[in-house]
Amino acid sequence: MGQQPITFIRQVIACISLPSLIESNEFPADVRERAKRILGGCGGGSVGSYTQSTGIEVIREDIAAYIEKRDGGIKADPENISLSGGASESIRNVMKLFVNKSAKKTGVMIPIPQYPLYSATIEEFNLQQVGYYLNEDKNWALDKSELERSFKEAQSICDPKVICVINPGNPTGQVLSRENIEMIIKFAHEHKLFIMADEVYQDNVYAKGSEFHSFKKVLTELGAPYSQMELASFHSCSKGFMGECGLRGGYAEIINMDPYVMAQFKKMISAKLCSTSIGQAVIDCVVNPPKKGDPSYAKFIEEKTAVMDSLKERAQLVQAAYDSIDGISCNPVQGAMYAFPRIEMPQKAIDKAK
Ligand SMILES: Cc1ncc(COP(=O)(O)O)c(C=O)c1O
Repeated sequence: MGQQPITFIRQVIACISLPSLIESNEFPADVRERAKRILGGCGGGSVGSYTQSTGIEVIREDIAAYIEKRDGGIKADPENISLSGGASESIRNVMKLFVNKSAKKTGVMIPIPQYPLYSATIEEFNLQQVGYYLNEDKNWALDKSELERSFKEAQSICDPKVICVINPGNPTGQVLSRENIEMIIKFAHEHKLFIMADEVYQDNVYAKGSEFHSFKKVLTELGAPYSQMELASFHSCSKGFMGECGLRGGYAEIINMDPYVMAQFKKMISAKLCSTSIGQAVIDCVVNPPKKGDPSYAKFIEEKTAVMDSLKERAQLVQAAYDSIDGISCNPVQGAMYAFPRIEMPQKAIDKAK
């Protein structure tokens, strides 16, 4: 894609990897300060140590502060946050909680079209995939009647317990409206479903009038009984303006979970020791970027803006290119990194196939 790395992130990574750089004047003071802070949270002051299984404490604190700011002050507890090697690992960890040995499989509702991590993990964990179709005519929103259909049909073969929602969407590029999210939360409440909100594209919103609303914010603002629902939401350093997917950083925030289950969850991830400290540090830079007045701020904003402008321009270009081709149309790319075109089969091709 030709995307250049964000200098602040790479400089912090350089300093925590080779601490002698902290003492040199090669990098700006805020980079060196950040590196010191992260190393201060590492055992023996080194990224070569195992970290806590849920991740370095100061980084979980920074994530909690980011979530609180994002959600207009709604409290976030660092104890509810666990870091992982990309969001994928967190998604798999949470899904693993639903593995059971009863005769009726546990059903996991996922969007169609979907991102294949979901179908593959459901299969691997011997769960039952329950697909609900996104509505292309409503720019890939979720329809209550379709959710009801999918849930009802699945009940004969499994016990649906989870609903996964990807917002902004992969591969459909939509950004869900607040009303749509409220409907999903109420549906999940009615049917006692655990919500898994894949929000790895929360920074990737391009279309005028589209805005990212986190499930946690909407659920909390709906008040009781919705604000007490179990929810796991996921974020990552793989997307957004940073695109550091190879460095493997992600996290889950899990709220309202039964304390016994949460304890089991933490025990389960502790068997895998920890995610990479470098990936955790990238997440820290993403959730706590340079602020106005910091030496790295101007460069950071310039680089971030360049990436976001380029992604936005490409989103529009791809959609326009599809729309200009006879027989192909495409919904506007509101967010994420995907255009999902509709292809009309020409009558002659259909006749020939027949
Ligand atoms: C919707 C969605 N969820 C999760 C992931 C995985 O992200 P990560 O690299 O953080 O594991 C991706 C990657 O493309 C994605 O599109």
